[in-house]
Amino acid sequence: MTPSPGTAASPTGDSVAGLLAEIADIGRDPVRGGYSRPVLSTAELDLREWFIAHAGKRGLDVETDRNGVIWAWHAPSGSREDAVVTGSHLDSVPGGGAYDGPLGVASALVAFDLLAARDLDGDTTRARAIAVFPEEEGSRFGVACLGSRLMTGAITPERALALKDPDGTTYADALRATGGDPRHVGADRAALGRIGAFVELHVEQGRGLVDLDRPVAVGSSILGHGRWRVTVTGVGNHAGTTLMADRRDPMVAAAQLVVAVQRLARGVPDARATVGRLVPTPGGTNVIASRVDLWLDVRHPDDATTLGLVEQVRAAAELAAAEQGCTATMAEESFSSTVDFDPALRDELRAVLPGAPVLATGAGHDAGVLKDHVPAAMLFVRNPSGVSHAPDEHAEDADAEAGAVALAAALEHLLTRGKRGL
Ligand code: GLV
Ligand code: MN
Ligand code: MN
Repeated sequence: MTPSPGTAASPTGDSVAGLLAEIADIGRDPVRGGYSRPVLSTAELDLREWFIAHAGKRGLDVETDRNGVIWAWHAPSGSREDAVVTGSHLDSVPGGGAYDGPLGVASALVAFDLLAARDLDGDTTRARAIAVFPEEEGSRFGVACLGSRLMTGAITPERALALKDPDGTTYADALRATGGDPRHVGADRAALGRIGAFVELHVEQGRGLVDLDRPVAVGSSILGHGRWRVTVTGVGNHAGTTLMADRRDPMVAAAQLVVAVQRLARGVPDARATVGRLVPTPGGTNVIASRVDLWLDVRHPDDATTLGLVEQVRAAAELAAAEQGCTATMAEESFSSTVDFDPALRDELRAVLPGAPVLATGAGHDAGVLKDHVPAAMLFVRNPSGVSHAPDEHAEDADAEAGAVALAAALEHLLTRGKRGL
């Protein structure tokens, strides 16, 4: 299949932009702007239903596995072994954009339409599937790529089920409340073993493609990254009656730590460190907080350097806390090593997509978790501003269609490789 940008011509009449338009009102966040679609929220559940309806419309066989991953199958021989799988996620960060996750799902549907129109069943009996992973962002329960981590055994079911959202609801309780069964969560070798190759399409989350003036890229690597929770504990008290000299205010220590994180990360070439979330308890304007939790996100190509920087932050947290008469503790919530995608698969996709540049990304993805278990690859679609995890995240309609065409070409190659001498 020759990719022809802007002409997906899906036989269902669906375009990527049209599919995304259908869900444009689901999970809008009137306060933050953009979309808030946390896993197992009404919004995310509505999106899952939307996907399942579209899979049904295409005659795909839908199943939801015990970790909440939705699979939509086309298996012409009945066998689901050695399948070519694509997919992404439907959950979002708080106040996120419309494309991070849903672009990959909508593009998968259109790519499957294009493959159906090609009638590949004479050339291959290899199964193909679209997989939709839950809690990719970790924005509700704190651990990113929770679905793929559970499936691959990268997190134990005990730990996953005990994770709590900001309201104190455990993952186990959230599953129970939405028809899931926590007893069946955990490593799923059968589900993982069916994947012969996985390709995730994603909106680019930087300016690589804009600068190269290209619509679609092949992914090369994912920056190693992790999340740590810092808890600074002080003494809650009255804002008016407590003299400045008598305070043990964890908010002041937390503020100093935020500044220290920036200073320390700037001292490490190629490091990225962020405090994007800070929660004082109890959180009253006229109340000196008794505790502040803040979440640290650190990324670097070299895992040892990431962990070294985190240790520097830990020392800075303890110092800042001690200076305010407080204490600080730090706990790892998740860590993902730097991922280099299989160069052979990457080169195959490049051959199928002539002119597509190869780009690294600083963002995490389920493809990165799967990569240690199955051949995995990624495609990126141009984002004109490079902004992501924010309402301004965008992909032009023509680029989104070009992405679906490219994805279809990649999947067709994988499905027919060996059969057509490719
Ligand atoms: C997910 O998008 C991440 O990189 O945090
Ligand atoms: Mn994201
Ligand atoms: Mn994503």
